[in-house]
Amino acid sequence: DLPPVDKAKFVAAKRASAYVEDGMTVGLGTGSTAAWLVRCLGERAQTEGLRFRGVPTSERTADLARELGLEITTLEEARWLDLTIDGADEHDARLDLIKGAGGALLREKIVATASERMIVIADASKKVETLGACPLPVEVIPFGWQTTCALIEEALIGLDVMGREVTLRMEGEAPFVTDEGNHILDLHLKRIGDPRRLGLMLNQIAGVVENGLFVDICDVVVTGYADGRVTLHD
Ligand code: A5P
Repeated sequence: DLPPVDKAKFVAAKRASAYVEDGMTVGLGTGSTAAWLVRCLGERAQTEGLRFRGVPTSERTADLARELGLEITTLEEARWLDLTIDGADEHDARLDLIKGAGGALLREKIVATASERMIVIADASKKVETLGACPLPVEVIPFGWQTTCALIEEALIGLDVMGREVTLRMEGEAPFVTDEGNHILDLHLKRIGDPRRLGLMLNQIAGVVENGLFVDICDVVVTGYADGRVTLHD
C-alpha cells in the first residue's frame, strides 16, 4: 500500500505508460513521478513484451532504466522521438510548465522539444492558476555566474513578476552541478505574468543556458489522485 501522494503519481504514470507503443522512441523524464513511469514501462516490457527505445533525460533516469533492463539510447542516435513522458513542478490551465526542481531541465527541454508529443504526469498539487509559486530554475554556465545572476536580477525589474529574489542552488557546501556541468539559479518570482516573454528574455542573457519554463511544449497533462482516479487535460 502506497502513501497517498505516491499512489497519485503511480496512477498517473500507469495511465501515461499506455501511450507507449511497440517500436516507439520515448523520452524518459526525471523525478519521482517519472520514476514511476519507468517502473510501469519495465512492467509492460516484462508482462507484455513491449519493445521500445528510451532516451533518458538524466543520469538518474538512465540508471533506473538500465536496472530494469530497458533498452536505452541517446538523442544523438535517435534524433527524433515519438513521445516524451515527464513530470513537472507546476502546470497551468494552458499546459505551460515550470520544470527543473530536480535539476534536469536542460536535457528535459531538449528531449521534449525533439518529441512529436510531450505528456506530463502529475499529482493534483502541480496544478496552479498562475505559474511562479515554485522557484523557476535557470541553468547557467559556471564561468562568471555572479555576473549572469546580476544581469538576470536587472532584467527582472521590468517584468510582470511578484518576487525578484535569485539564489544559487547548493548541494551541501558547494554549488549544485547539473548533468551538463552547469549551475542552477532559482528565481523566486511568486507570480509569472507572462511566461513566454520571461523565457525569451532569460535565454537572451549571456551565461544562461536554458530556463525551466516550458511554453507550448506540453500536449497533455495526466493528473492522478490518491483514490485512483485519473484526469486528462489537453
Ligand atoms: C526535474 O528536473 C524536474 O523537472 C522534474 O520533472 C520535476 O521536479 C518533477 O519531479 P517530481 O515528479 O518528483 O515532483
